[in-house]
Amino acid sequence: MKTVGIIGINGMVGQKMQTELQKIKLPFEIKTFGRNDEIPALDIAVLCTDNPVSRELAPKLKNRVKFMVDMSSEFRMTPGVPLVIPEINPHAITKDTQLIASPNCTTTGLVMSLAPLKPFYHFEEVFFCSYQAISGGGKKLLDEFHLPGSYYEKNCVPLIGSLLPNGHTSEELKGLYESRKILEIPDLKVYCHTVRVGVENSHSLGVTVKIKEKADLEQIKKAWNNFPNLKYSEHVITPKEVSGKETTFICRLRKDALDENVFHYFVTFDNLLKGAAMNGRQIVELLLERFV
Ligand SMILES: NC(=O)c1ccc[n+]([C@@H]2O[C@H](COP(=O)([O-])OP(=O)(O)OC[C@H]3O[C@@H](n4cnc5c(N)ncnc54)[C@H](OP(=O)(O)O)[C@@H]3O)[C@@H](O)[C@H]2O)c1
Repeated sequence: MKTVGIIGINGMVGQKMQTELQKIKLPFEIKTFGRNDEIPALDIAVLCTDNPVSRELAPKLKNRVKFMVDMSSEFRMTPGVPLVIPEINPHAITKDTQLIASPNCTTTGLVMSLAPLKPFYHFEEVFFCSYQAISGGGKKLLDEFHLPGSYYEKNCVPLIGSLLPNGHTSEELKGLYESRKILEIPDLKVYCHTVRVGVENSHSLGVTVKIKEKADLEQIKKAWNNFPNLKYSEHVITPKEVSGKETTFICRLRKDALDENVFHYFVTFDNLLKGAAMNGRQIVELLLERFV
C-alpha cells in the first residue's frame, strides 16, 4: 500500500491536511506524525511545519521518502524546487522533483486571479493590499486571538512576518517573488501591502492591475469562470461566506475611473484550504496519479 505521511499533524494546516487527504479517491494509507515522532520510509511526506523544522527535516527524510511536499516558505525560492499550484503550473512537477513547495496563502489568491488572464493580457503592474485572517498565523496566534484583549481583536495590523532592512515585510516580498515564479513571468511588477485583520479565517485581497491592452470586463469574468476552482460573483462576497469552500471567489470587478488599461477587483478564499491544505492535497493527488 502506498503511504502518505503528514508531518506536523497537530497544527492548523496539519489538521486540515488530514481531512483533505481523505478526499482523495485512490488507494493509499495516511500516516500522521507530531513533534518527536520517528518518521519511517514513506512514498510522500507532507511537511506541515514551520521553516526551521522543514529546513532540518527535509535533508534527513531525503533517503527515506520518494516525494516531499513542503507547506513552509523554506524552499519556495530555491532553484530547482517547483512552486506549484496544480491549476496553474502542474508541469513544473516531474518524476525527478523530489521536493515540491506549496506557495504562500496570499500569493495563491493573487495568482489564481491573474493566471486565467495571462493568455489575453500583458501585465504591466499589479498592486494588492491584503486583509489576512488570524488562522494564517498558525494555531498559537488563533489561540491568542480567542483570549480577551487580543491585540488583533477589532483591529488591523500592517505587519506580517518579519520586517526587513528595506522596510518591506517577508510576507510582502513573497507576494512579489512567488508570483513571478508561479506565473513564469520573471519581470512581473507586484506592489504588495500585507495586513493582518481581526477575521478568524479566510484571506482577502484588493487588487489593481495595469495591462498593456484595454481591459474587457466581460472577457475577464469569462476567463475567471472558465478556470477551475475560481468563480466571479456579481454580488459582494466576504471571508464569512467563503470559509470552508474550495473555490476562490472574486467580486467587484471594475474599470479604473481614469485609465482604460487599469482594473480593480476583490479576491477572497479560505487560506487553510486553497491557500494551504487543499493545494497540498492537489499536489499529493497529482503525485499519486502520475509518479508514485
Ligand atoms: N496557516 C495558514 O493559512 C498557512 C497557509 C500556507 C502555508 N502555511 C505554512 O504551513 C506551515 C504550518 O502552518 P500552521 O499554520 O499549521 O502552523 P502551526 O499551527 O503552528 O503548526 C505547526 C505544527 O508543527 C508542529 N511541529 C513542530 N516541530 C515539529 C517536528 N519536529 N515534527 C513534527 N511536527 C512539528 C507543531 O507541533 P506542536 O503542536 O507540538 O507545537 C505544530 O503542530 C507553516 O510553514 C506555515 O507558514 C500556513
